[in-house]
Amino acid sequence: MIYSRIAGTGRFLPERILTNADLEKMVDTTDEWIRTRTGVERRHVADKGQTTSDLCLEAAKIALKDAGVTAEEIDLLIIGTTTPDLVFPNIATIVQHRLGIGGCPAFSIEAACTGFIYALTTADKFIRAGESKCALVIGAEIITKLIDWNDRSTCVLFGDGAGAVVVKPSDKPGIISCHLGADGQYKDLLYYPVGVSKDLHKAGVGDSKIIMVGNEVFKVAVKTLGNVAEQALKANNIDKDDLDWLVPHQANLRIIQATAKRLGLPMEKVILTVQDHGNTSAASVPMALDVGIRDGRIKRGQLILMEAFGGGFTWGSILMRY
Ligand code: UT7
Repeated sequence: MIYSRIAGTGRFLPERILTNADLEKMVDTTDEWIRTRTGVERRHVADKGQTTSDLCLEAAKIALKDAGVTAEEIDLLIIGTTTPDLVFPNIATIVQHRLGIGGCPAFSIEAACTGFIYALTTADKFIRAGESKCALVIGAEIITKLIDWNDRSTCVLFGDGAGAVVVKPSDKPGIISCHLGADGQYKDLLYYPVGVSKDLHKAGVGDSKIIMVGNEVFKVAVKTLGNVAEQALKANNIDKDDLDWLVPHQANLRIIQATAKRLGLPMEKVILTVQDHGNTSAASVPMALDVGIRDGRIKRGQLILMEAFGGGFTWGSILMRY
C-alpha cells in the first residue's frame, strides 16, 4: 500500500504588516473590537507590485530545502488559490517556470479558504495511485487585493501569504484520510461579485469587494467544521484524545475555540496563527502547519487534524501522521 507523507514545509509572508492600530486610522473600528470578535492583531499585506506567484515561489523554495529535494524532482505541482496572478495560464504553470522546471502537470484549484485542503487531497490521490513521487502543494493568497479598505466588516479580517508542502510516497501513513465537501446553496453568504464571465465589463475588479454575511457564515462554519472533524475521527476509529494537534483554518479565533471545544481538545493542542496572519484563505492551513513544525511543537509521528471551511461553501479535513 502506498501512502503520501509530508516531507517538508515552508511559508512566506509579505514584509508589510498592518496592525489593528493602523486600521483604527482607516475605518471606524477599534483594536478591542477586532481582537475580541476575531482574534486578529496584525496581518501581512502584499505590496502593489507583488503577485501570488511571488509568495508561492519563496514558500516553495523553503519547503523544497526542508524536504531535501531539488525543484527538478517535482513531478506534480498543485496550487490552491482564489487570487491567481492571471486568469490564465494557471498560476501553477507560472510557479513551475519560475522554479526553473517544466514538463510535469501543474494546475490550480479554486475552493476559496478550503483550497489547500482540496489541493493536498488531490496530490494524495496521485501519490496513492503511483502517479507522483514528489508533489509540491501550495496554498497561497493575495486576498487583500479583493478588499475594500473602506468596508470595516471585511477589511479587518484578511491577510496575505503562502504555505507550501512537499509530499512523497511512504509505505506507512502519512496522510490517513481526506474528507471534502461543498454546498453551493450558501453562495450568497460569502462571495466576490465579479468574475471573468460575469460583469467584468461593468466594473473593474478593483471596483468590487468581498460580500460576506459574517454572522451567518460564522454559524455554518462552526457546525460544519465540528462535523468534518468528527467525521475524520469516526472514519478512522480514532479517539479525540489520540489527536496531538488540530491545525484549523484561521478565520476567527472564536470559530477555532468552538471547534476545539466540540472535539474536547484543550487550546494547547491547537496551532493558532490568526493573531499574526489574519484570515489568509487558502494559505492559512499550510502556514499554520509550518509554524507548528518550525517552532518544534509538531513532531514527526504525531497525529494531526487539518481542516478548513470557505466560500461556496466548501470544507474539508485531512487526518495525518506528520
Ligand atoms: O474564511 C472563510 C469563512 N469566513 C468566516 O468564517 C468568517 C465568519 N464570520 C466571522 O468571523 C464573524 O461573523 C465576523 C468577525 C465577520 C463578525 O463578527 P460578529 O460577531 O458576527 O459581528 P456582526 O457581523 O454580527 O456585527 C456586530 C456589530 C455590528 O454592529 P451593530 O449592527 O450591532 O450595531 C457591526 O456593524 O459589529 C459591527 N462591526 C464592527 N464594529 C467595529 C462590524 N465590523 C466591525 C468592525 N469594527 N471592524
